[in-house]
Amino acid sequence: MAHRTPILAGNWKMHKNHLEAIQVVQQLAYRLEDRDYEHAEIAVCPPFTALRSIQTLIQGDDLKLQLGAQDCHWEDQGAFTGEVSPPMLAELDVAYVVVGHSERRELFGEDDATVNAKARAVLTHGMRPIVCVGETLEQREAGEAEGVVRRQLDGSLAGITAEQMAEVVVAYEPVWAIGTGKTALPSDADEMCGAIRTRIAEQYGQAVADGLRIQYGGSVKPGNVKDLMGQEHVDGALVGGASLDPEDFAVLCSYHRL
Ligand code: 13P
Repeated sequence: MAHRTPILAGNWKMHKNHLEAIQVVQQLAYRLEDRDYEHAEIAVCPPFTALRSIQTLIQGDDLKLQLGAQDCHWEDQGAFTGEVSPPMLAELDVAYVVVGHSERRELFGEDDATVNAKARAVLTHGMRPIVCVGETLEQREAGEAEGVVRRQLDGSLAGITAEQMAEVVVAYEPVWAIGTGKTALPSDADEMCGAIRTRIAEQYGQAVADGLRIQYGGSVKPGNVKDLMGQEHVDGALVGGASLDPEDFAVLCSYHRL
């Protein structure tokens, strides 16, 4: 099996102003100091308003953390009031950009074409998109989960080359598991992440699929992270609520010691 460096990313959503964000990252860095987490990449994705502060903190203290953003527009610049562009993020040393989170899809009307435009723009500017896919409870109960995820995947990755796929992370986040305390069974998470890898193999070949990192997201906590991360096809976690607590997130980052 190909070696894939695990990636744990904290998606803070609309929480923490820039001062609070600095505190969270300082506390996280302190807690990570005596933990063994360097086998994995760790990213924090604060709101846009905190990116500059966290960039400065990471650089100043030489922290082994990556900076992520939660969204972006697909154009470099223009009359798009309220939006933030990929080159603006790249200039802040943002390494990862979450695109197509289910909250963006559901609450802000993003479709696969939008997500695709964003993912491609992120790649163009030398950053890595974390492309989110996942089914709703109704879709799962109707037996449509795999088809839904495959369609989201195909649409969101359209036109992305095999070479670019090495920079892409896919996050499987079943909508019913987000913020609900309901976690997918590790076996269910693995089954869907495996199905995602199979789809990528069909389209890009086995080598690209073997190298693809696939995160699970949805109520990941210290109590369930080890089982989830132990699955063959789960290469990381996209963490919401638990990433706001420096102690919990530090524990998640050293899950292999639990
Ligand atoms: P929770 O971990 O709070 O369920 O959120 C998951 C998520 O949406 C991460 O992007």
